[in-house]
Amino acid sequence: MLSQLSTIALCAAAALAQSTSSVFDFPEYPPAGTPDPNSTLANAAGPLPFGIASDPKLSEAYIHYDTGTYGPQIELVHAYYTYWPTGVGVASDGTVFTSFPRGNETFTLAVFNSSVTEAPWPDQEWNTPPAFENTTNPGYSIATEKFLLVQSVVVDGLDRVWALDTGRPEVNGSYLLAAVPGGPKLVGFYLNGTNFVTYTFPANVVYADSSINDVRFDLRGPGYAYMTDSSPNRPGLVVLNLETGASWRHLDGHPSVSPDTSFVPVYDGVPFYLYPVTTPYAINNFGLYAADGIALSADGSYLYYAPLASRHFWRVPTSYLKVEPGPLKPYAYLQAKQAVESLGESGSNADGLETDSSGYIYAGAPEHNAVTRYNPATGLMEPFVRSPYIQWPDTLSVVTLQSGGGYVYWTCNQLWLGPNYQNGTDFRTKPYVMFRAPIEAGKATQLD
Ligand SMILES: *[C@@H]1O[C@H](CO)[C@@H](O)[C@H](O)[C@H]1NC(C)=O
Ligand SMILES: *[C@@H]1O[C@H](CO)[C@@H](O)[C@H](O)[C@H]1NC(C)=O
Ligand SMILES: *[C@@H]1O[C@H](CO)[C@@H](O)[C@H](O)[C@H]1NC(C)=O
Ligand SMILES: *[C@@H]1O[C@H](CO)[C@@H](O)[C@H](O)[C@H]1NC(C)=O
Ligand SMILES: *[C@@H]1O[C@H](CO)[C@@H](O)[C@H](O)[C@H]1NC(C)=O
Ligand SMILES: *[C@@H]1O[C@H](CO)[C@@H](O)[C@H](O)[C@H]1NC(C)=O
Ligand SMILES: *[C@@H]1O[C@H](CO)[C@@H](O)[C@H](O)[C@H]1NC(C)=O
Repeated sequence: MLSQLSTIALCAAAALAQSTSSVFDFPEYPPAGTPDPNSTLANAAGPLPFGIASDPKLSEAYIHYDTGTYGPQIELVHAYYTYWPTGVGVASDGTVFTSFPRGNETFTLAVFNSSVTEAPWPDQEWNTPPAFENTTNPGYSIATEKFLLVQSVVVDGLDRVWALDTGRPEVNGSYLLAAVPGGPKLVGFYLNGTNFVTYTFPANVVYADSSINDVRFDLRGPGYAYMTDSSPNRPGLVVLNLETGASWRHLDGHPSVSPDTSFVPVYDGVPFYLYPVTTPYAINNFGLYAADGIALSADGSYLYYAPLASRHFWRVPTSYLKVEPGPLKPYAYLQAKQAVESLGESGSNADGLETDSSGYIYAGAPEHNAVTRYNPATGLMEPFVRSPYIQWPDTLSVVTLQSGGGYVYWTCNQLWLGPNYQNGTDFRTKPYVMFRAPIEAGKATQLD
């Protein structure tokens, strides 16, 4: 029945295509730049590779199957044998920066110094705070210029390196210390490792139980940094004016930044029900993770984001986020919330998001071992690259290399197999990896 219907639909479409222009022509479909379906269909037909020899007639049955693969060839950039990575930022000279959420790890921000090793960056000193635990304030961490837990590292359009520190190191397994002001920070370095600025946040912008997760920069005008707060206790966005250092929040508690409490993801085909292990202040339950991935449109006008525990995808015009709420702007919070646009479902939850110069918004798709991309010109998610080796695409970074070519790099870290999500058992296997794949466009520099 279904196939007859689709045959009829195809005939109708063919008839329309031959007629003169009408409102039913949809001349824009498929939209320009849409990938050839053959390049992205992840299926094929072939005989079963086993168990068919007993009946020769069946061995000739070519059976449709999922190849698990589409898009450009992925390239293995790095194998991590030491620590568990999240962030990646790639400079135009090919230097790759990466970050490690820190428990007892000796460094949290690093640079690749070979394809299988990492070195602390800019040096060990920056990665060595005087302490993790606050001796006078049990359960809290400390204020320090040094790194506590760098969740994300981003290279901006001027090739500067930014470390986003949650200020909440993990101790004793999954126990996240709470932050004190001066712990959470955004630290800017030149590519040569010279620190040129450090921003900290008031206690009512980044709260003790906040978790600033990822950051994107708009270097137009005074310059802004946009951050997600992925804490289940504080779903929201943090905006920082790079010129004045002032920061404020937006979208607090809005559904677009909040987890979908009925979310059941599927990883490697297996429905995933999290065993809820929670300790005070611990953010170890991504059934509850809020706004996580973040990307700025190439022209700076929209901020795209997605809660980790949701398949829903959202954006908000940055013009509303740039307004600092206050006594003279009493409606700013409400107006930003009213301006949020639902982009519908994206087909997977997404951990990392990233932009390229042509306007695509790349989205890690852990449920499909894939990276997909949103085309703002059509409002559709398109397939980009898929492979069974993409085991939890975490964070993405687009770069235009001086040596030629545009690439998207991403970390794969098997997140859902970690002990915090598997009732204490670690099912991950080393090495964790970083891949890259070529893209048609390049980095969106977000400059004037
Ligand atoms: C796509 O694949 C089909 C089936 O193999 C083939 O008939 C068709 O010519 C292909 N189209 C393109 C544009 O390669
Ligand atoms: C760090 O913690 C992990 C997990 O608890 C443990 O396996 C490892 O031995 C610890 N490393 C050090 C240097 O203490
Ligand atoms: C990379 O850095 C680590 C840590 O500093 C160091 O132990 C290692 O020798 C370095 N490896 C290379 C190849 O430079
Ligand atoms: C410990 O916490 C207290 C209370 O929040 C704070 O005033 C103090 O600066 C913290 N200690 C350090 C070393 O940061
Ligand atoms: C971590 O464990 C050590 C040793 O058991 C203990 O002294 C310390 O208080 C614990 N820290 C926290 C924050 O629970
Ligand atoms: C590092 O780079 C910055 C910006 O290019 C420059 O101003 C500074 O002098 C450099 N520092 C060193 C030690 O090379
Ligand atoms: C989780 O681990 C604890 C401690 O080992 C065990 O008692 C409990 O039964 C486990 N729960 C599940 C759902 O496996």
